[in-house]
Amino acid sequence: MKSLIIALALVAAIPLPAHADHRTPRDLRDLAHQTGIRIGSAVDIASLRDEADYRKVLNREFTHVTAENAMKWESVEPERGVFTWADADALVDNARRNNQKVRGHTLVWHNQLPAWLTTGVENGTIDAAELRNILRDHVTTQARRYKGKIRAWDVVNEVVNDDGTMRQSIWLTHLGPGYIADVFRWAHRADPHAKLYINDYNLEWNVPKIETTLSIVKDLQAQGVPIHGIGFQGHLGIQYDYPGDWANVMRRFADLGLEVAVTEMDVRMVLPVTPEKLTTQAEYYQRALTDCLSVKACREFTVWGFTDRHSWVPGWFEGEGAACLLDENLAPKPAYHALLGVKKA
Ligand code: XIL
Repeated sequence: MKSLIIALALVAAIPLPAHADHRTPRDLRDLAHQTGIRIGSAVDIASLRDEADYRKVLNREFTHVTAENAMKWESVEPERGVFTWADADALVDNARRNNQKVRGHTLVWHNQLPAWLTTGVENGTIDAAELRNILRDHVTTQARRYKGKIRAWDVVNEVVNDDGTMRQSIWLTHLGPGYIADVFRWAHRADPHAKLYINDYNLEWNVPKIETTLSIVKDLQAQGVPIHGIGFQGHLGIQYDYPGDWANVMRRFADLGLEVAVTEMDVRMVLPVTPEKLTTQAEYYQRALTDCLSVKACREFTVWGFTDRHSWVPGWFEGEGAACLLDENLAPKPAYHALLGVKKA
């Protein structure tokens, strides 16, 4: 008893270091470790190669990476049968050296397809049977090449329209709706350990799109198709309300047994930048990460570029920009600090 009392007294007298989870994280990598989720960024391959400061920040801050363009079909097979893997390989190698996991983006999409493919389909030199073979070879070749090196694949990207109908891509119109089950099966065969995702935008709030996507997932599961995750792109803008129901939507997919990821987060604004807009942007980022952390199945929070120096926003949304966590000079914006302040629920 006496020794127990002494022991307790000793313990009480020694100031305990603050529990790791209670101190403010140093950076995003530290935050990732504290919260137990992966924090990622899309990578612009030219910047990774040519800009030492970009490379340094990427490798310091992130535990996960996605190729912004380097793994898209037009990038890896610009001419039929001519494969250009150098950029995608460089990204995967850099990730391995820096202890980062990789999201493969994307096997099947309606955009950034090589011209030889779209032209061939248009002018009828590629018929439906050949198109199916081409798709199978593409999915198999790419998934096999990175077998064991990709944590998660965006197998199909943006297959549902905003009104909840299926997108009339060349895949749907020529191969019929069964192509989705096919590509998941092919991807799984090529890389059995990769988590296979369906990925889309506006899924944070758009009810028709959410309902259709849920029924696609249920339908695939009923057929025994290997589907493991739902990706919310998360392209938000502060001129729109924050999608306040997002965590509930995540939960509905998690209830089907899926892993959840935020795959392409950014928060754009109408220019010019003002301190007030940056504060609102910070709140959106913070709420998004908080939503993800409130759902057990949410395992990854990836931003679509980490610096305003390289962001797709100004090129795609006229008059908008400044959507990233760091500014053009890689200085952290309020949004970056807001993320560091997020605590696990
Ligand atoms: C964008 C890239 O960021 C741009 O560089 C490219 O010109 C077009 O594609 N949803 C997606 C991403 O799934 O692949 C898109 O990336 C952004 C929207």
